[in-house]
Amino acid sequence: MLITKIYTQKELSEAANELRLGELVAFPTETVYGLGADATNEQAVKRVYLAKGRPSDNPLIVTVCSREMVEEYTGKLPADAVKLMDEFWPGSLTIILKIKPDALSKAVTGGLTTAAFRMPANQVTLELIKEAGVPLVGPSANSSGKPSPTTAQHVFHDLEGRIKGVVDDGPTTVGVESTIVDLSAKKPAVLRPGAVTPEEIAAVLGKEVVSDKHHVGQTEVPKAPGMKYKHYAPDAQVLIVKADQWTDALAWASQQKTKVGVMALDENLAKETLPANVEVFSLGKDVSSASNHLFAGLRYFDDQVDYILCAGVPEVGLGEAYMNRLQKAAGNVYFSSIKKDN
Ligand code: TXA
Ligand code: MG
Repeated sequence: MLITKIYTQKELSEAANELRLGELVAFPTETVYGLGADATNEQAVKRVYLAKGRPSDNPLIVTVCSREMVEEYTGKLPADAVKLMDEFWPGSLTIILKIKPDALSKAVTGGLTTAAFRMPANQVTLELIKEAGVPLVGPSANSSGKPSPTTAQHVFHDLEGRIKGVVDDGPTTVGVESTIVDLSAKKPAVLRPGAVTPEEIAAVLGKEVVSDKHHVGQTEVPKAPGMKYKHYAPDAQVLIVKADQWTDALAWASQQKTKVGVMALDENLAKETLPANVEVFSLGKDVSSASNHLFAGLRYFDDQVDYILCAGVPEVGLGEAYMNRLQKAAGNVYFSSIKKDN
């Protein structure tokens, strides 16, 4: 078994060296921690799937530190890509572009003629990629089916003994994975909602942006996470609680025989009395803090409770990304629907 090391920022050169040797090293980003491997080393990329326990036909994001790194695989960038990079890079937007034939291995692209590129807003990781001298594949650094990791400790918990190390840069600041926009088709399409909204992308491009979250058939290579495989699902049953249902939800919780986990915004609980068998994991004051703490809360309660009551928010702006992850974690089960069954 490998000894998994936690690298400090002073040990970045050592981590970069391991990546050059084909080892797996997890890295911080502003969204979630990624599982890094040299994207140009097919054997290293294949080991990423093994470490995560993830089906190997799901394409991976290519994480870069410069636009030149992208152009090596795509040739001259399309004008729309340049506009989006000017506005959102480094940051939480992954851009899918056509690549030159066979420019990246099938292990990276899943056999597609396109690839997904992202430049994260994290100085340590941009430096790591620069030192490694190669782009890194970077799926979220969790075991498949677990919530994405937002701290180095989450990565360590899931992947200890299976990767060389993790570069620790503290907790992430966004907490949900990047927006994925596909520029390889006729119309730009958002395949996964994230902190950069479709409206913001449309404003920068000056054209319509479609939402293409359900447009993939079962036999195709999945275009975005969660379309074919179950993602983000903790062992406990998560129940989504709408803002006006907390009084009912807490009354229901008080009747359960075991502890119930509650993930709520401060305002949800301001006027409520908490039953003794409820434990609260605060999602903070707004949608932004809720997004940043969602995965950590799911992990916190995962093996402790049978039920987690978690705050629903309006599906606008960042709320769309938050609800997308929460609905997957909950299998789209709302508290209001189970209450009717009783
Ligand atoms: O915020 C993020 O994007 C994080 C951090 C670590 O960078 N990474 C991440 O990677 O969420 P991952 O692998 O969990 O999700 C990327 C998804 C893949 O599941 C895949 O469905 C989609 O991007 N994807 C990758 N390449 C694609 C392509 N060429 N066409 C369509 N979808 C693609
Ligand atoms: Mg993932």
